[in-house]
Amino acid sequence: MNDTLSSFPKLVLLRQSVREYRPDPIPRKRMDRCLEAARLAPSANNGQPWEFVVAADQTVRKKLVKAARFGLLKENPFAAEAPVMVAVIETPGHRPTRWGGYLLGRNFPLMDLGMAVENFCLQAAAEGLGTCILGLFVAGEVRRALKLPLSRRPRLLITVGWPAVEEVRIKKRRLIGEMSRYIEGKGIINAS
Ligand SMILES: Cc1cc2nc3c(=O)[nH]c(=O)nc-3n(C[C@H](O)[C@H](O)[C@H](O)COP(=O)(O)O)c2cc1C
Repeated sequence: MNDTLSSFPKLVLLRQSVREYRPDPIPRKRMDRCLEAARLAPSANNGQPWEFVVAADQTVRKKLVKAARFGLLKENPFAAEAPVMVAVIETPGHRPTRWGGYLLGRNFPLMDLGMAVENFCLQAAAEGLGTCILGLFVAGEVRRALKLPLSRRPRLLITVGWPAVEEVRIKKRRLIGEMSRYIEGKGIINAS
């Protein structure tokens, strides 16, 4: 992967789920920059209802890996290869925003966490690091591994490490015409 990418569209293409890792450790400064990118993410009412726990300790990391071997199929076997596992925890944040969202039928904290996680993963890609977001895991096991109180909810895990394979895959996505539409009008002109 290219270490010196500068343009955002290239970075978006570069970020992909990495499921093969080299065992080498991750420099602290690179991880700090990923956390800084997550820190700067937007959130409803600036509530920032997140905590990122970076498990570099092998005992804790292995417990998180076990939590991610989900269900009968024992999903996410590759998680064991990554030198670091990050747990993304939902915190109470700004309570009026949370309850306001629930009244509107919207889960703001989950939206907020998604944005912070994407910022984290994009920065990781810019650092030459691979990530894979994991939603399949046993939350209770993560809770026990990190000794979380009930007010803290494990929402996602992220494997982080050096990609073992350099290839950047073509993204399989719906076409832009299938996922968006214009209501034509004066707000858009045909110019670049
Ligand atoms: C909320 C969420 C949960 C995910 N959970 C898993 C998971 O448990 N295991 C896994 O291998 N990939 C998981 N992924 C990765 C997706 O499969 C992946 O992002 C998607 O297929 C697109 O591929 P790409 O990330 O390489 O662009 C998850 C992604 C998101 C956003």
